[in-house]
Amino acid sequence: MSAHRSTYHFQSFDNREEAELLRLREQALMGWNNQFRTMVGLGLQDGMKVLEVGSGPGFITEKLLEDLPGSEITALDIDEVLLNGARQRLSHIPASRLQWVQASVYETGLPEGQYDIVIARLLFLHLHQPLEAAAELKRVLKPGGKLLIVDIDDGIFGAVHPEIDLLHSLLSKLTKRQAASGGNRHIGRGLPRLLTQAGFADVDMDACVQHSDLHGIEGFKRQFDIERFTSPLKAGLITESEYEQLSRSYAQFVQSPDAYAMMIYLLASGTKPE
Ligand SMILES: C[S@@+](CC[C@H](N)C(=O)[O-])C[C@H]1O[C@@H](n2cnc3c(N)ncnc32)[C@H](O)[C@@H]1O
Repeated sequence: MSAHRSTYHFQSFDNREEAELLRLREQALMGWNNQFRTMVGLGLQDGMKVLEVGSGPGFITEKLLEDLPGSEITALDIDEVLLNGARQRLSHIPASRLQWVQASVYETGLPEGQYDIVIARLLFLHLHQPLEAAAELKRVLKPGGKLLIVDIDDGIFGAVHPEIDLLHSLLSKLTKRQAASGGNRHIGRGLPRLLTQAGFADVDMDACVQHSDLHGIEGFKRQFDIERFTSPLKAGLITESEYEQLSRSYAQFVQSPDAYAMMIYLLASGTKPE
């Protein structure tokens, strides 16, 4: 586990692995076109040699393959179970277009100067040493190549209607807990500095919105699913009565015909100097 040096361990989902996969799937697919457009705005182009790090279940890998028909993609993840699942689902894709690597982002084992772009989506918030990871990704980029990080920031997470009582205080507790175990749910705001400190030039940033009126509400229901909060309950982060209150608000959100939710992603890019 030490090679992870991150706060995301798929195995820790115990008997909720299937639900977590569905959540990741919805989170990847909802509003993908919007996110892809923002990636293109920051320099992603068809034909580029792409490395996707923390590719996990491969839902983003699949979309990248569809939208970059002239690109060769390498998908890297540390988790054998996630990687094997993705490999099986995408086994029809020829090796000339898709390669799999099981490794840590800190030590990819990949040769230097190979990639036009590295994409890291929802990985950096989990990393204990983000600067070390960024340095390794810079090493594998070609001079002039880009690191593109897609992440969140709980400070500007988004909005939910009807309001889910306690959601904001719960998010703030989760942020503190994640920080205590080495992650950072406020990573979004720190991305420009991170890229600059890692020696990237032309640092740029943009935001991208997932909105249920545009992209459907089902994925958001999974995102706020009350079942996800049993672990904070077990960890003593929230009390039984707070959990009950959350359950009631969640039920109201799910049942309301007027429900909507919006979530903001932050995308930052930097270029490896020539
Ligand atoms: C929240 S998931 C994101 C998956 C995917 N990028 C997406 O956007 O749907 C985080 C992923 O990072 C992977 N991960 C965690 N620590 C890692 C490390 N040190 N090196 C490589 N991957 C890691 C996990 O196994 C998991 O697949």
